[in-house]
Amino acid sequence: MSRDHNQWTKKPDLESNQYVDPRVYTDETIFREEQEKIFDKCWLIACHESELPEPLDYRTYQHPGGHNIIILRDEDNRIHAYNNICPHRGNLLIFDAAGSIRNASPAGGPKRITCIFHAWSFDAQGNCVDIPRQKDGYQDRVKQCDYSLREFKSEVAYGGFVWVNIDDSALPLTETLNGALDPLAEMLSEPLEVFHYNRAIVDANFKMWHDTNSELYHDYLHYHNRVTGMLQPGYFDREFRTFKGGHAQVTDMLLKYDAMKGHEKQSLGWPGLGPNRWALVDLFPGITYNIRSPAMRIDTVIPLGPNKLCIEYRGLGLKSDTPEERAARIRHHNSVWGPFGRNLPEDMMGIVGQGRALANPSEAPMILHARVENNKIHDEVGMRHFYEEWGRRLGRSASNPFASEK
Ligand code: FES
Ligand SMILES: [Fe+2]
Repeated sequence: MSRDHNQWTKKPDLESNQYVDPRVYTDETIFREEQEKIFDKCWLIACHESELPEPLDYRTYQHPGGHNIIILRDEDNRIHAYNNICPHRGNLLIFDAAGSIRNASPAGGPKRITCIFHAWSFDAQGNCVDIPRQKDGYQDRVKQCDYSLREFKSEVAYGGFVWVNIDDSALPLTETLNGALDPLAEMLSEPLEVFHYNRAIVDANFKMWHDTNSELYHDYLHYHNRVTGMLQPGYFDREFRTFKGGHAQVTDMLLKYDAMKGHEKQSLGWPGLGPNRWALVDLFPGITYNIRSPAMRIDTVIPLGPNKLCIEYRGLGLKSDTPEERAARIRHHNSVWGPFGRNLPEDMMGIVGQGRALANPSEAPMILHARVENNKIHDEVGMRHFYEEWGRRLGRSASNPFASEK
């Protein structure tokens, strides 16, 4: 028998950590709180060091808290994260997605970031090095030494990724991971290189993407995963392990790629991970390390609104790859995880469908995270663990987020 509104929207008869209210995916107030209490406090991956290989190379990064950031490699090869704002009148300093300040720009000299508006300029260490007609207009009231750039905390770590935290009082990155990336230590021990970058902007909430990466019950969505994984020995032994701070790991397994027509068994492995294996770590609030030998994929989320999400995907190989090895990694990566690969578009359909269906939460059901299977592969402990941390940081329960406002 079908259900009426009250039956359809009522809370399920489950423990309160086993479902979430659909408004956690759509509510504007919750989204603003997530920006302030989660994204402005957490270590996030802005890019990879190989994306700015030479001194004075830069990339800009749209931080999920709403900040625009310049990631710049200085002449001593130190990487900095600067707020992309001119201290004069607040103009954006760098408009391009990536480039170099090695050569002079139309706005100013070489080795300088020069604001196009009134030509204030800054060196790679963030010092203000020129204020046009300084003496004439400011006399001694405005001094260059008081107008350097705002620098955020940054670290290059865990596979050469550039991590940024805009909270000056944040703990060092390692202390916030609580060992979650330790299982990948050997897999991240050699220098890596990005060979693929793709970004998708979809009408969905960032947590929908992270949920999808945090549960493997949805392997039913992927024909590829069903035949190469679910039907193979060891699949149901794969286990979730959780780490303080909302992070989770799924133990690796041996896949049978040649069980799927058109896919070849891989002879190339990954450091610390043999050929045809698959390891995965999800980090709070929205980073996934995903290694399917012979390639690695990193997902990072940039929420643009409660129901608008940019997902960045990077494919990586080893810096030491021969041309043949690199070609094999790219071929395998793209066939499974590229924008036209076997799996990625299917995952995307899952969250785009959720985004469309849940856009109006007045007729949306409670969302179940209720599978309990001894932490094995189809257990939804990864999502429950994420929402426990989410609730702690927001001071709200994901199953009853507006309780205190009633
Ligand atoms: S706003 Fe940058 S120099 Fe004026
Ligand atoms: Fe998937």
